[in-house]
Amino acid sequence: MRELRTLYWKNGSLYLLDQRLLPHRERYIRCRGYREVARAIRSMVVRGAPAIGVAAAYGVVLACKPRGRGDAGLERRIMEAAETIKSTRPTAVNLFWAVDRMVRLAKEALERGEDVYETLLREANRMAEADIEANRRIGEYGKGLIPDGSTVMTYCNAGGLATVGYGTALGVIRAAHESGKSIFVLVPETRPKLQGARLTAYELRKLGIPYKIITDNMAAMVMSRGLVSCIVVGADRVLARTGHVINKIGTLGLAIAARYFGIPLYVAAPLSSFDFDKRPEEVKIEERDTNEVLTFAGKIIAPRGSDAMNLAFDITPPELVSAVITEYGVYEPGGLMLLEKYARPEGV
Ligand code: MRU
Repeated sequence: MRELRTLYWKNGSLYLLDQRLLPHRERYIRCRGYREVARAIRSMVVRGAPAIGVAAAYGVVLACKPRGRGDAGLERRIMEAAETIKSTRPTAVNLFWAVDRMVRLAKEALERGEDVYETLLREANRMAEADIEANRRIGEYGKGLIPDGSTVMTYCNAGGLATVGYGTALGVIRAAHESGKSIFVLVPETRPKLQGARLTAYELRKLGIPYKIITDNMAAMVMSRGLVSCIVVGADRVLARTGHVINKIGTLGLAIAARYFGIPLYVAAPLSSFDFDKRPEEVKIEERDTNEVLTFAGKIIAPRGSDAMNLAFDITPPELVSAVITEYGVYEPGGLMLLEKYARPEGV
């Protein structure tokens, strides 16, 4: 089956696959300006940390569209775009990594009198290609951890749809499958946005990898029955100093159950999802609209007037993580600062 691109650039616009409509409709949204990109990130047209980062980078490019000679408002527009885009979702570090990088490059290009739009567009295209390449390398490093005949549990969607292509956690599963191993996947549905049931299942089906969807609250029970060989998840932010992993709400529960039943839990993430500065208490965990919890498929499911809590991510401590798979190899959660040299090659 045809593999869809999560996003692409064409004739001065960014096209985003509208993931809210999947698996039933494959439709792209055209973004002509940075505000549209910000709206798309906030409303989860595009989601998944690496995909959000690259979409954000193109958002800054859109703010630099040429407006004739001596564009006096360009720098102000770039800063406004950066702030607007960064205010959309607070947890995935790729968003901040990508926007800050674009702003820095824009300032350098302005100082040198270069064409800012062309410079930033080249960089966004490079980021998009680098993301796919990083995921393929993660897959290559990770596939050795998945034994032939495994049943692998993943969570949320850390596949091609959460990235520019190939995927991180799902990339590892896919690489193991492509290497000829027999792999079966268990997919918790991932309430409230159902990224597992809608998106991961959609990707596995296209890839021809056998799977079953389970409700989130079945996970511990299937582990207790010996039905899970290992768990592979993605990350919205890996805290390199402490080894904590921030990922979709529910990951912490899976990690605790996995440790209890002696099942390894692997995290697959590119360096663009690493935070080399912050500690867990310094990271803002996104809280989304409570209607996402109070409704199901657009219908209210709780008594009117009920309140809810809607934390979008949780924090898994390093002692529950067996290893972190990156494009530079497989690391222990206690040794992630060794990767800093690859993340800051220019000494920034
Ligand atoms: O709220 P989402 O769908 O953006 O959350 C996505 C996740 O939690 C993924 O596991 C994470 O971003 C890694 S994607 C390669």
